[in-house]
Amino acid sequence: MDMNTPICDFVNEYISSGKTRLHMPGHKGLCPECATINDINKFDITEIYGADVLYHSSGIIKESENNAATLYGTARTVYSCEGSSLSIRAMMYLIKSKYGKLKVLATRNAHSTFITACALLDIEIEWVYGENLISVTDIEESVIESSNAQAVYITSPDYLGNIADIEKIAHICHKHNKLLVVDNAHGAYLKFLNNDLHPITLGADMCVDSAHKTLPVLTGGGYLHISKNADAQFSGNVENAMRLFASTSPSYIIMQSLDMTNKYLSVGYKKKLNNFIIELDKLKANITIDQTGTEPLKLTLMPKSYGYTGDEIYDILFKNGFVCEFSDPDFVVMMFTPEIPVSELERLYKVINSIEKRAPIVSKAPLVQIHSQTMPVRQAVLAQSEEVNIENAVGRICSTPSVACPPAIPIVMCGETITEYDKEIFNYYSIDKCRVVKV
Ligand SMILES: Cc1ncc(COP(=O)(O)O)c(C=O)c1O
Repeated sequence: MDMNTPICDFVNEYISSGKTRLHMPGHKGLCPECATINDINKFDITEIYGADVLYHSSGIIKESENNAATLYGTARTVYSCEGSSLSIRAMMYLIKSKYGKLKVLATRNAHSTFITACALLDIEIEWVYGENLISVTDIEESVIESSNAQAVYITSPDYLGNIADIEKIAHICHKHNKLLVVDNAHGAYLKFLNNDLHPITLGADMCVDSAHKTLPVLTGGGYLHISKNADAQFSGNVENAMRLFASTSPSYIIMQSLDMTNKYLSVGYKKKLNNFIIELDKLKANITIDQTGTEPLKLTLMPKSYGYTGDEIYDILFKNGFVCEFSDPDFVVMMFTPEIPVSELERLYKVINSIEKRAPIVSKAPLVQIHSQTMPVRQAVLAQSEEVNIENAVGRICSTPSVACPPAIPIVMCGETITEYDKEIFNYYSIDKCRVVKV
């Protein structure tokens, strides 16, 4: 099904009409000093008559969002021009407004936005720890059953490419009368796998996708999806929820990017994606450095057993023209999409396999510890805080979730007391400062 692009069509017609723009934004699509950017400026309009209103939509934006909802098989999909961060806040508000007093069971790899959203909305968090604290994505039935939380919050895929068994978790959650919501920021493309792994397909009630992370969408473009099986009040209230946190000046450039991506996804993308994954799988299968994660479009190397830190591999790849998403002492993360030419995969394979094996690095990443909550998250986030050197942080209460490391796994969360052992972990990741509650 070839989809239409109502937002793009509107803007193109507007540009062709040659009208003088007596409206925002200030560049008017004409600024003589902005010659290099004017090609973009002319597409940058605001909510003029006919252009619809994001979060009061009834025209071209609603039509375009309905296209996205059709692609994802949802009851409602709304656009975000402020990434998953905005969608997470709105999603948490929707649950909060359903239950009033709310407790959420969440895995520890939650993004900082989830924590600040809970603090702002006065939502209690019950953390779930797994055997391996670093990669916990799954939650045992016994944990879900024994918790009095009304909702479960999963981050999957995580930054390292670990994917949770959403189908199983959704089944357990619904059996125990709890909602399942998913941070799918890294997985917008999962819908288009031959074996569809999108959280909504697998039974989640709501999820957020950063379209910009894995689809050809401009930075900031994202979705909040609501399942056809979810409470209808979520769809009815979703624009209100987005409005509560969003800018009143949404980017039409980002909206056009999301609009055009519907068309891109509707014609040939599935085949292109799955063919690309076959090629990427060949690369993964032939690399001799250890890997982790099962996410199809990520390659995460664990090179210590090969004699290198993640940062060293990052540098080698950088010198050979590959810029990776992330590295630390233990991991190097690469994110792919079908926009990468297969010839570059072949070149990457040659570069990686030309790296000489060395004696293994035996030092291990220190395991993140279980902490007890000294102060409620909300109180810690909203308290007066100060930045201190890690040396002086022991015994103090962590105030902001900005100390997320390794990727998306905080060493210590807001409201928890920083221990001597945490100090060692901070040192391991070369973090020398953090924010603590002022005494
Ligand atoms: C797991 C996860 N969730 C949410 C976000 C926030 O997404 P965005 O940058 O689109 O606001 C990120 C960003 O990196 C992320 O990694």
